[in-house]
Amino acid sequence: MSKVSIIGAGAVGSSCAYCLAEKGIVNHITLLDIVAGVAEGKALDMCQAAAIQRFDTTITGVTQDYSATNHSDIVVITSGMSRKPGMHRNDLIISNVKIIREVVKKVVLGSPHAIIIVVSNPLDVLCYCAYMESQFPAHRVMGMSGLLDIARYKSFIAAALNVSTKDIQALIMGGHGNTMVPLPRYTTIGGIPIRKLMQKEQIDEIIDRTRMGGDELIQLLGTSAWYAAGASICQMIEAIVCDQRRVFPVCAFLNGEYGIQDIYLGVPVILGKNGIEKVIELELDEEDKEQFLLSEEVVRENVNIMREYLKSGNRDE
Ligand code: 2OP
Repeated sequence: MSKVSIIGAGAVGSSCAYCLAEKGIVNHITLLDIVAGVAEGKALDMCQAAAIQRFDTTITGVTQDYSATNHSDIVVITSGMSRKPGMHRNDLIISNVKIIREVVKKVVLGSPHAIIIVVSNPLDVLCYCAYMESQFPAHRVMGMSGLLDIARYKSFIAAALNVSTKDIQALIMGGHGNTMVPLPRYTTIGGIPIRKLMQKEQIDEIIDRTRMGGDELIQLLGTSAWYAAGASICQMIEAIVCDQRRVFPVCAFLNGEYGIQDIYLGVPVILGKNGIEKVIELELDEEDKEQFLLSEEVVRENVNIMREYLKSGNRDE
């Protein structure tokens, strides 16, 4: 059994904690937040729900006390500013790079063997930031985005076809932003290729809505959404702690795979006890490849903004 620490007890962090607690697959969850009392309060509330929901996972909440995260097997980072209506994920680069660097610096001291799952935005850039700051091997630093994007994609397909999401298999690659690449070629419903069940126009509409899935929710909620994000992180944690070797799209470091070097991007991987056990290299057709490379370009531009900021002497401001 394992210990998981979740940095940031906002809506995403606490949804993840509750989902994980109910599964009963880890024995301890530490919630940490910067705002006094929030993590403690949410942890206490969840511990009381345990009596009704009948789980034994213990949950501790702390305010900025990183020693409580010591010896974590997995550290989830949800800290940072979240988007408001009208903001792009990239508007958060500098402010969240500063936050993530501080968080990573503190968590790695007490949990040098942990696996880090980054959730904060802009996801692909902040995964790179956590990788640099932690100096962990790349298979132990990853980001959650593909599962969330796929959950949205599947929910739209299920609604359009009036079928269960359980029977949909799908894949989305690329950055966690509007250039993500949903792949109808690798989307099936009960084993049937989606193109046999839906017209191209309808598939294209679903792809567009998926790409804007986060924005649609921000418009409705005034801030980023949390239930599907929390559940997606939880699914990744389960794959790791139970060594399930699930095949998921994860934001992973690419070191030559797909002909791409030195960047974090969403790709299918095998997820098991060591973190990313393997990046799966798929054959992409010309159009998908072009879109994937476009997504890479956008992420790389944003990584360069981070690099410039780090070089500019603002490093320790
Ligand atoms: C989303 O897509 C927060 O980026 C996250 O909802």
